[in-house]
Amino acid sequence: MNSSRYNVITIDGPSASGKSSVSRELAHKLGWKWVSTGAFYRGLAYVAMKEGLTPSDVEDLVVMTRSPIWQVRMDDDQTRVIYREKDITAQILAEENAQRASQVSQIPEVRAALLENQRDCAQGVPGLVAEGRDCGTVVFPAAILKIYLTASQEERAARRAREQGLNLEMTQDQQKQRDHQDSSRAAAPLAIPLHARVVDSGGMDLHQVVEQIHSWAVKALS
Ligand code: DC
Repeated sequence: MNSSRYNVITIDGPSASGKSSVSRELAHKLGWKWVSTGAFYRGLAYVAMKEGLTPSDVEDLVVMTRSPIWQVRMDDDQTRVIYREKDITAQILAEENAQRASQVSQIPEVRAALLENQRDCAQGVPGLVAEGRDCGTVVFPAAILKIYLTASQEERAARRAREQGLNLEMTQDQQKQRDHQDSSRAAAPLAIPLHARVVDSGGMDLHQVVEQIHSWAVKALS
């Protein structure tokens, strides 16, 4: 393992807790890259659907994780997914695809197959902020700083509905279902990593959350 492997900060938490916005800003402040590991699950779920696979086609899904027909790209503004040379980032972010992603993420073989792709994101970069559900527990257990970012169910649903112009009640129902699926699955469920700092972003704005985590990052790096 080379030393850059340790220049990793993980941010885990439930859906719509603000992980992507915080990761983007934090990486910008540190001069690092950031990755939404959810993009791997969202990308695979979307591509699988387009290629006619279902969640029960486990072997084909595993093969698909290594297929050159799609790639995850760490841009500064967003983690993008390219499929057959087209940018499908907007499509993978749609709520219906989030449900598909949560489904394929239940499959242990799929999780194992995507692990190396996610770990590769830390190679050849000055540092990496990795966000998701199991970044601190499974993907980067040796991260220098682990954050568990959360907020109340109501605040998270309101944020998602506002951002995506969705009905609040429906968003809340879908979110509850996805939170339950992501936390109760057998393989790498959403959990607070050991030694993680828990940040409840309720009542805090983005700037305050980033400043708080940045100050811990500076300490951890010194
Ligand atoms: O963070 P997100 O909403 O983009 O993630 C979409 C789904 O992908 C989420 O419901 C569960 C899965 N996921 C996961 O299982 N492990 C991760 N590290 C990231 C996402």
